[in-house]
Amino acid sequence: MCGIIGYIGSKEAVPILLDGLKKLEYRGYDSAGIAVLKDNKIEIKKSKGKIARLEDLLKKSIPKGNTGLGHTRWATHGKPNNLNAHPHNGCNSEIAVVHNGIIENYLLLKERLISEGHNFVSETDTEVLPHLIESNYKDNLTSAVKESLKEIEGSYAIGVISTRDPEKIVASRWRSPLIIGVGKGEMFLASDIPALLKYTNRVIFLEEREIATITKDGVEIINFEGKILEKEIINIEWDAEMTEKSGYKHFMLKEIFQETMVIRNNLEDRINLSTKSLELYNLSLSLKNIKEIKKIFILACGTSYYAALVGKYILEELTNINVEVDYASEFRYRKILLDQKDLVMVISQSGETADTIAALNSCQEVGSHVLAITNVRGSTISRKADSVIYLNAGPEIGVASTKAFIGQLISLYLISLYFAQVRESLNFSEIKKIISEFIKLPQMAEIILLKDPEIIKLSEEFCNFHNFLYLGRGINYPIALEGALKLKEISYIHAEGYPAGEMKHGPIALLDKTFPVVVIAPRDKVYNKVINNIKEVKARDTLVLGIATEGDKEISNLADRVFYIPQTLDLLYPILAVIPLQLFAYHIADKLGCDIDKPRNLAKSVTVE
Ligand code: M6R
Repeated sequence: MCGIIGYIGSKEAVPILLDGLKKLEYRGYDSAGIAVLKDNKIEIKKSKGKIARLEDLLKKSIPKGNTGLGHTRWATHGKPNNLNAHPHNGCNSEIAVVHNGIIENYLLLKERLISEGHNFVSETDTEVLPHLIESNYKDNLTSAVKESLKEIEGSYAIGVISTRDPEKIVASRWRSPLIIGVGKGEMFLASDIPALLKYTNRVIFLEEREIATITKDGVEIINFEGKILEKEIINIEWDAEMTEKSGYKHFMLKEIFQETMVIRNNLEDRINLSTKSLELYNLSLSLKNIKEIKKIFILACGTSYYAALVGKYILEELTNINVEVDYASEFRYRKILLDQKDLVMVISQSGETADTIAALNSCQEVGSHVLAITNVRGSTISRKADSVIYLNAGPEIGVASTKAFIGQLISLYLISLYFAQVRESLNFSEIKKIISEFIKLPQMAEIILLKDPEIIKLSEEFCNFHNFLYLGRGINYPIALEGALKLKEISYIHAEGYPAGEMKHGPIALLDKTFPVVVIAPRDKVYNKVINNIKEVKARDTLVLGIATEGDKEISNLADRVFYIPQTLDLLYPILAVIPLQLFAYHIADKLGCDIDKPRNLAKSVTVE
């Protein structure tokens, strides 16, 4: 939520800030702005709307200077307009601040600062920061920021520049991510890695309540007590090309087409193809710990939550361990009933989702081992968790999560198989059988992707409906939820996911010929039940699109349209079934002219509660 970029060096700051903002736009796109420092003056330019509008504004006059901050906003306090856009400054325009997070005690601070004579112009919580820093300023910016942050309650990642102490950017964070990019004679500040990759892949992750003083030649990091800290520079393996659309119309489409690669990367990385055995590094659970697990709790939000639901089926089936799945946003406020022998898994593409981090913290407080499944190395979740499994998916830029979902599913299969191997809930030949089928998945995914023109045709037929029901049963029920989420978040069409067997307990009342139903009906153990559900739907004159197993003739006599996926094991169908649903949502949204990579009101990383 909100993206921060900062530059200090000898180049012109504006092009670098704009470029970084474009890479961070997925974090919020209600308004954007920059502040550039030169000759004892800070020039601020900001605009409502997406970065493109800021860019247009800058065409009229570009602030010159080698030090600057940029911000793209996802509004929390105050409407997305020019006044509320960041950067914000204090009374004398000597300090500019960009902020990600929420300052919870801002009203109290604002009242006090107003009574001291400060003049506020926006409705934001952020504006208290430059005024507070102004009022705490004695002889240097770092101390003023440190003293000010001691008064702040809530969450923040901030970048601050000042004409009174011009050779630096001061930055700090608490419950919102911030990283420092290390260049040669230049330094960077950003909310996320993709914004930096064009310039450097050497980064320092700022930890909670650390304060960085960044100059063009380096950085000094202190804690709130003023102690200087030794920090490691990490080399990031991603490269700049990974953050480009590479000829695709949208990141979402590129990322769907990368799914074969995601599956392949994970298999090659963790499965020994000759022995068909598994390796899961980064797992600090001992074999004894794994054998003793009594129950697993999986906590996540959004698409990651739906991956967790699929995970429940896989883990229970393969390991015989009881699994409970909860929204992290709900779990964090529940009474936590965890046993020392329970394992907690958190799933998060970004590794920065505030609710998931809070749930992780609560579990660690009661002594549970937390295993994280995440895409982003160095993210808060990856650093806090006791064990980490990475998705090997490369950066996911489209706001709608697609390839990360596939990576999450694969990771859950691999963890389940590994636990099954350790706990001996499956014998070697059963594991080998699953792995042999697993190895075919990249090719099967490829077959589906090659049939994209079929999905384009289907999207033309279905794009003018206003409501959709997605049905699935068993392990494919979460895929119905995910298919519906994809459609609603990028095309703004109402879509609901439902367990097929529950339809007759309510939703069937909605159905008529204006309300199409997408049914995930592979040839698995509940196939016949789902076929009965399709019959119930058809009796209401409803249009049915079936996702079925190649060669299934029966369904083609029932459903109005069928998209075929290759035959695989029951347990593996979710990986294949979700791909056409992602493409279906994508092409419908494209037909409707929606802003697919930046859907309205959404942000890629939800770093506020
Ligand atoms: O980064 P995370 O996986 O923790 O994000 C969780 C959700 O915010 C995310 O999956 C969201 O629902 C996406 N927009 C789904 O496409």
